[in-house]
Amino acid sequence: MPPNSPYTEILLNYLSSSFGMDAVDDANQLQETPKNEVMSFFESTPLLEDAAEIEKSLKEFVDRNTSSSGNLNGKTNRVVCITSGGTTVPLEKQCVRYIDNFSSGHRGATSTEYIPNTIYFLKAGYSVVFLYRRGSCQPFCSTLPDDPLLECFSVADDSSIEVDLLSNSRFSNLMSIFLLHYFLVDALHAETVKRAITESLTAVAEGILLKLPFTTIFEYLQILQLISVSLRDFGPSAIFFLAAAVSDFYVPWKNMALHKIQSASGPLDIRLAQVPKMLSVLRNEWAPMAFHISFKLETDTDILLAKANMALEKYKMHMVIANELSTRKEEVIVVTEQEKVTVRRDSTRAGAEVESPLVELVVDRHSTYIKKFDA
Ligand code: PMT
Repeated sequence: MPPNSPYTEILLNYLSSSFGMDAVDDANQLQETPKNEVMSFFESTPLLEDAAEIEKSLKEFVDRNTSSSGNLNGKTNRVVCITSGGTTVPLEKQCVRYIDNFSSGHRGATSTEYIPNTIYFLKAGYSVVFLYRRGSCQPFCSTLPDDPLLECFSVADDSSIEVDLLSNSRFSNLMSIFLLHYFLVDALHAETVKRAITESLTAVAEGILLKLPFTTIFEYLQILQLISVSLRDFGPSAIFFLAAAVSDFYVPWKNMALHKIQSASGPLDIRLAQVPKMLSVLRNEWAPMAFHISFKLETDTDILLAKANMALEKYKMHMVIANELSTRKEEVIVVTEQEKVTVRRDSTRAGAEVESPLVELVVDRHSTYIKKFDA
């Protein structure tokens, strides 16, 4: 009999240990996420092309941040994995069309930053693994369009911005030169660009910010698994801050058309399979000691809190952050077993974001969580 893939082994362990549980919620959860659905998702997933490279960067990140001399924050070795942006669901293997999930990545990017007088994760002494959708908002430059833009710049000693177009083929055309010129002549953007370049490059160079991109649901879940297993050594000092908007439905790889779907044959009927909720696998198997925070997004406020409570109980999250689409930048409700706290943006302060008081509260509750293990 051929050996199981690593994914199957992990999932089999998870399922066998879960079958032993007698809680009603867990039993319901297993009915909703049958073994074959979880397994077939991973078995039919196209393997990551750059898995070895990602594992290498994760190893370097972990080594750097677990050794006392390597942690440049000067505080305890705490780490947070922030997921950010929406996952796509391709409709064709050679993908022309895809279904997308709403998320600009602003929440995740802003929560990462290092800004004086406000509390974000880097500022609070955490090292950050930033798992983000390609092209979504980036830490330090949430007002700029895309990450590769940053990589074209460096700040010279005289604080002027130098542009290296050759290092990035995406910008080696006239339109891009025009775009870059547009940013550089605009004084406001020039300042934003300078800060973004310096702080982002510094955080990456110091090894306290590791940025890993995804596009599809297949990439997202596989990389999340690699990250969670890599961060196990941090035990309770690790947080999973799952702000990404993750697809609930997908086309299994084996059922997917290879080439562009033709319109000549008339209207398109697609049957989408359900993406198994991976929160339970993450919580119970991949990173059982970590502090887990998931988000609940709804457009109907009447069901928001009920759904957040359900996620808390069902997936045994330590915290669920409930937000409503239209007010998500103004306030969120933090739901834990003990409390429900409404966190609001400080509207008296220009440029204040809700992520600052939110991260402050998260850091506080995480500290309490860690203390339980010290006792
Ligand atoms: O990026 P912005 O524009 O700033 O917006 C931020 C946000 C609104 C996207 C963010 O605050 C947010 O709410 N993110 C979660 C959105 C979401 O996917 O909600 P959900 O109700 O579909 O899923 C709830 C949780 O289950 C999520 O933490 C998700 O990671 C997880 N999930 C979802 C589907 C799935 N198949 N498996 C999962 O584990």
